[in-house]
Amino acid sequence: MAGAGWKVWRKLRIIKSVTFQSSRFYSSDWNIRHGLVGMVGRTPLVRLNKVSDETGCEILAKAEFANGGGSVKDRAAYFLIREAQKSGELKPGGTVVEGTAGNTGIGLAHLCLAMGYKCVIYMPNTQSHEKIELLQTLGADVRPVPAVAWSDPNNYNHQAKRFAESLDNAVWTNQFDNTANRLAHIETTGPEIWQQTDGKVSAVTFGTGTGGTLAGVGTYLKEKNKDIQVVLADPQGSVLYNWFKHGKLERSEGNSITEGIGQGRVTSNLEGAPIDDAMCITDKEAVEYTFRLLHEEGFFVGASSGLNVAAAVRVAKSMGPGHTIVTALCDTGQRYYAKLFSRKFLDDKGVLQYIPEPYRISLHD
Ligand SMILES: Cc1ncc(COP(=O)(O)O)c(C=O)c1O
Repeated sequence: MAGAGWKVWRKLRIIKSVTFQSSRFYSSDWNIRHGLVGMVGRTPLVRLNKVSDETGCEILAKAEFANGGGSVKDRAAYFLIREAQKSGELKPGGTVVEGTAGNTGIGLAHLCLAMGYKCVIYMPNTQSHEKIELLQTLGADVRPVPAVAWSDPNNYNHQAKRFAESLDNAVWTNQFDNTANRLAHIETTGPEIWQQTDGKVSAVTFGTGTGGTLAGVGTYLKEKNKDIQVVLADPQGSVLYNWFKHGKLERSEGNSITEGIGQGRVTSNLEGAPIDDAMCITDKEAVEYTFRLLHEEGFFVGASSGLNVAAAVRVAKSMGPGHTIVTALCDTGQRYYAKLFSRKFLDDKGVLQYIPEPYRISLHD
């Protein structure tokens, strides 16, 4: 009996070891990431099955919520710090100061903890308590200031700049106009997309906040193949659609519920970006796709991801079957739970009706 048991055990071991070695999870690509910094970039590229099957295109998304700090902005945050280290502006134990209401601040706060810096975040005082509390939990010194326009010297970005200048060993990272942000995507996101698709990418489309993602990925991919189409996806109420189509910094109609994207000016990161086309994506499309991603594909993401996928579907339909379109799932829906998953909020914004009835099960009051 003992002999038979041993044989069964050995057989199971062999099966287990073959399964283990051939498992995709433990493939040769699988390696050790060095700390949180090692978790910036190299995100999975995911085939969105439902929309790919519907359009006859491969619609692929970089799973940016898988970055260590949970969003696409971790890439920019790391490069902004890295450039400040390289230039000598930031020395060990120094302070990183930024004006941000969202993901860049969260990325910077995570990285400051991992890299031994202090983090100070200026933000408009209109921001939710959840964001302030999250940043404080991440060790940041959060300074809510009155929400005034860019042209006002008391705008949160200008205050961040002045505060950094008043300290020794501190840097204002300036995500909008510091092109280290775009460089992050030239050096990481673009090459990853090229490698992960084996160069078979027909178009990319991204919503733009600072413009770093679109400009950086576009710049890298155009160098590889100038025929790759770079499409700017602009939320309603932003100026970039009219800027690209008509050369005017005029807002499109409405005020978007998406966060982190949309612009009122052309930032240094966006300047000179190789853009082939632009489209304005309404909130009703962004919200519809945010909930479709959740219920049809299983991805719990924010509205900028819904907008990105809505844009990718439009690009796929205009190019026709057989193309490969790449976009991004920027962050998780958890960051927007209070608003984006509130029945009342969506109803007040007039977009509740665009969420298919069975998917409204995900809403709270
Ligand atoms: C949720 C989200 N999506 C997309 C973006 C756009 O990225 P970029 O600033 O590179 O244009 C941002 C930027 O803050 C964001 O927070």
